[in-house]
Parts: sequence; C-alpha cells; structure tokens
Amino acid sequence: MTPDTLQSLAREHGTPLVVVDHEILRQNYADFKRCLPNVQIYYAVKATPAPAILGTLYRAGGSFDVASLAEFMLVHDLIKDLPASQRQDFIWDQIIYANPIKPKETLQALDQYKPLVTFDNALELQKIKQYAPQAGVILRLKVPNTGSMVELSSKFGCDPGEAVALIQQAADLNLVLEGISFHVGSQCTNVENYVQALHLVAGVISEALSRGHEVRILDIGGGFPARYNQHVRPFDDLAQVIDAEIRRLFPDLQIIAEPGRFLVASAAMSAAQIIGKAVRDGKICYYIDDSVYHTFSGIIFDHCVYPLKAFKEGPESICAVFGQTCDALDTISLAENLPELEMGDLLYAEMIGAYSSASATGFNGFAPAKVVHVNV
Ligand SMILES: Cc1ncc(COP(=O)(O)O)c(C=O)c1O
Repeated sequence: MTPDTLQSLAREHGTPLVVVDHEILRQNYADFKRCLPNVQIYYAVKATPAPAILGTLYRAGGSFDVASLAEFMLVHDLIKDLPASQRQDFIWDQIIYANPIKPKETLQALDQYKPLVTFDNALELQKIKQYAPQAGVILRLKVPNTGSMVELSSKFGCDPGEAVALIQQAADLNLVLEGISFHVGSQCTNVENYVQALHLVAGVISEALSRGHEVRILDIGGGFPARYNQHVRPFDDLAQVIDAEIRRLFPDLQIIAEPGRFLVASAAMSAAQIIGKAVRDGKICYYIDDSVYHTFSGIIFDHCVYPLKAFKEGPESICAVFGQTCDALDTISLAENLPELEMGDLLYAEMIGAYSSASATGFNGFAPAKVVHVNV
C-alpha cells in the first residue's frame, strides 16, 4: 500500500482510519517461513485480533497463539464448520494457549477442547489438573530479555533450575508434558537472547531426558523484530543464527514460534486529520482526531514510536502533535518535523499494525479508528 492509496481511502472512509494490507501480511508470513522453514508459525493473536487478519493467516496455513478465552473463541470461529474430528485436530495441533496464568473459569471452558496450554509454576499446574485435566502442557522458561523493547521475563517463566522439578510434578499429576517454551521479549534485536535461550532449553531437555521425561515440542515464542527503522537488521540475519542453532541442538523436535509484531506491524498504516492548531511557547501544536488512547496506544503500552508524516509538502519546522482527548498524557509527539498544516489536512503513520488498534479504548467518548482491510 502506498501513502497515496492511504490518502484516497482516508478521503473515502473518513478519519481516524487504519488500513491493513493483507498482501503485506501474506508477504511477512512467507518471509518468516522462508527464513525459518522448520518452524511452525503460531500467530500471536493479541498483536491485532482482527478476524480478517486471522482469516488470511489461516488460509496461508498459519496456527495461532491465544492468551484469553475470547481470543481462543475468535480462532475457533475460523474452524467451527469443520467436521468435529478435523476441528479437534486443529485445536490440538494448531492452537496454543500461551498465557501461563489462567483463570480457573477459562480452564473449565477450555477443557472440552483438549487444548495445549503453558504454565510456569506448581500452583498453575494444580489448577490445570483440577479444571482442565485433558489439556497438554508446555513449560515456559525464563530467559534473558536483554535490550528487548518490551521485557517479559520479570512477569513470566520459571527459573531454568526449577524446570525439571516442574516437569516431574506434571508427570506426577498425570498431565501430558508436550514441550518447553520461552519468550525473549518483544521487538528483540539482540540475537544473543535467542542463542542463550536455546542453550538453556537444551540443558533442561537433557536433564529431563536423563530422568525419563520426553519433550516433543520446542516453542521459541515471539519477539521477532519489525523493521521500524534502519537500525533493525534484516530478519534474515537473525533467523540464520536461530535456524542454525535449532538444527544443531534440536534436530528431532517439533519447533513452533509465536510471532505477533513481525507479521502485522508493517501491514498497517493509519491516517488522522488535523482538528486543532495552536502556538504554545513558540512551537506549533497540532491536535488530531486520534490519540494515545486509540490507534497510538502503542506509544504507552508497547513503548513504540510512530513517526508522523504529512501528505502536504513544504518547508518543515519542529512541532508537537497531540491527541483529541482532554488528557495531557495524550501526547503523540513533542518533536515532529512537519510542513505548515491547516485544519482538515491529514497526517499518517506507517508500521502501526501491531499492539496499536489492538489496545485502543473508547476513552473520553471517542470511538476507535475505523479499520479497513485491503488486498484481502
Ligand atoms: C506468550 C507470548 N507469545 C507471543 C507474543 C508475541 O510477541 P511478539 O509480538 O513480540 O512476536 C507475546 C507478546 O507479548 C507473548 O506474550
């Protein structure tokens, strides 16, 4: 999708607008597959749960990582018309419930589907045994998240030193241990995180094997970086190292990954309109009809930066861009280089397909941006 296409769609549909290009989605999926051919792709639905996106990835052959009952049901919707046995095979082989902490009601609701679920502590294991005894389990390991844009290791993952004891507890409870997972943190550009994680898993698997526990699946999580700027090296470079380590350390394991951002970030652009303008302390301040509570929520929740661009050309100056809400936190940028803009002019952002519209709210009475899908 070009900025020109975005502009004409914004004129047609109005603003605020998010446009998702499914051709780019398919391309990202194919790139991931090309770089890591032995890895099964489980799209992390949380990154953007739009049913159209799930449909495209489903048709491309994708599997899914869900982290709530609602996300599970969104994926289930894709397969609800399959014959019962195929539907069950898909749930077993192509969905992972990758939130290590689950409400008991969710486990109760999931049990009938015989799902694959992750855990990282003994209490969770007991809960799974009590409320979803038919589930297969995957142990989530804590691994280095050094330098990742969103760090996850302080919230989830057991210490590698506790891992085999937890695997033993799963066996004692007669739960089927299917595999081991980790997450190196989101937008991980530090390949060492993956390398160290793979080595930690190799150690755990060999100790588990020596105690008679077999591991079938290795889930290398998400974290694969989107190219928000030129400092992010091409995915091929990172993937080459991961691929070599996987082949060397785990030639016999089924390898799966849970990319979210990598698949969807570059697939969407957003457009917003200037609805107000003022000069404060000598700086031009623009107000747009979107906000950090809406499409730009990734600024807050995802620690992400979305450079703003104008369709208009002209001499540029430093200005600030604020959102439409009445809250001062709603600051999209305090230093953006933009030409002189007037009421009704459009601004746009690229690379806004991950963790943006997904976490948009209706704060202050403003509805989230309309989402349009192209090249579906
Ligand atoms: C368990 C799990 N898997 C996958 C993902 C997706 O990560 P990413 O978007 O960095 O690929 C996340 C993100 O938080 C996660 O928590």
